[in-house]
Amino acid sequence: MLEHLDRLPPDPILGLMAAFRADSDPRKVDLGVGVYRDERGETPVMQAVRDAERALLARQTTKTYVAPAGNAGFNEAMRRLALGEDSPLVASERVCAVQAPGGCGALRLGAELIRAARPEAVVHVSAPTWANHVPLLSGCGLKLERYPYFDTATGGVRFEAMLSALEALPPRSVVLLHASCHNPTGADLDEAQWRETAAVIQRRALLPFIDMAYQGLGRGLTEDAYGARLLAEQLPEALIAVSCSKNFGLYRERVGCLLALGESGAAAAAALTQLVRIARGLYSMPPDHGAAIVAEVLASEPLRAAWLAELTVMRERILQLRGATARELAAACPHKDFSRIVRQRGMFSFLGVAPETVRRLREAHHVYMTDDSRINIAGLRMENIPYFARAVAQALGQ
Ligand code: LMR
Repeated sequence: MLEHLDRLPPDPILGLMAAFRADSDPRKVDLGVGVYRDERGETPVMQAVRDAERALLARQTTKTYVAPAGNAGFNEAMRRLALGEDSPLVASERVCAVQAPGGCGALRLGAELIRAARPEAVVHVSAPTWANHVPLLSGCGLKLERYPYFDTATGGVRFEAMLSALEALPPRSVVLLHASCHNPTGADLDEAQWRETAAVIQRRALLPFIDMAYQGLGRGLTEDAYGARLLAEQLPEALIAVSCSKNFGLYRERVGCLLALGESGAAAAAALTQLVRIARGLYSMPPDHGAAIVAEVLASEPLRAAWLAELTVMRERILQLRGATARELAAACPHKDFSRIVRQRGMFSFLGVAPETVRRLREAHHVYMTDDSRINIAGLRMENIPYFARAVAQALGQ
């Protein structure tokens, strides 16, 4: 049977990890996969995570199953972190939460829930969007369409075009939005734009599905949740897929959570039974360890404070890298405007160069990025930014 299968090309993002590892050039620069790196080029385990892990290991007496919905303390902590401690929704029964294997698992749970409720629903994603949104959301049979989003001329959002597209959608269409740190462009909505978007979503009776994978890495923990909180407080229904991969540095532990807001407590309770059934059919139960770490960090005042301090260092480092990268590129490539890099937020920006230039950067300069020229700013180091800028200039023929 297997001989009838076609061999597939590598994943557009994960395939780069293998190519980078196989490159032995000491100057190599990995701007591919969205992983935070420090000035030594390492992705260390956060100290708060290490401390929580130690406490957990000392306390743990069994490895028996937890539950299909996962760790109850973690799920409650995710409701509070995403919605805000003071949100009236935290105390209400309208929001259920299910632990998932990473943000990807949460996105897939949300897509399966939508399909269970309305198999003909169309999910509208931004143009462009994270490459893996497509298989994650359409893999369960939902149809995907795109709404205008990124303005290649300004490096910002084509906001009027986006709003007009949303205005024209049939009621009950699903709109996937990035809470902050838009992947792959780094172009986010500002607060006024979130308010206008929420008004259109409400007027057109659309369902917002929010991907919240970078809370705390753009403008701040609260700032990065502005849009998600606004939509949840204003609308009868919303789905929020949360990831702890980046803000807790827990990538391989696969820690995520799906929050489902229903019109009533009864609707949320019904959604929870559906989600648990979906999870059981897909992978039975989520892995325990990473979620237990997050629950431990968020339940302890000192660990939470230590985590917040580490997260702030990461965010500020990305901002410094953005400033330095824009400056070096401006000096090396006077004919191309890279100033958008300082206006964008989170790990990613589009360099805005052709696939041919991306290939030259990889082959001649050992600089790795996805074919659409998305760069992971957090993969740069202050010391190799000048090398990177010179490589870009040479690859562009400047
Ligand atoms: C990325 O966009 O590079 C990350 O979210 C990692 C991944 O799974 O693609």
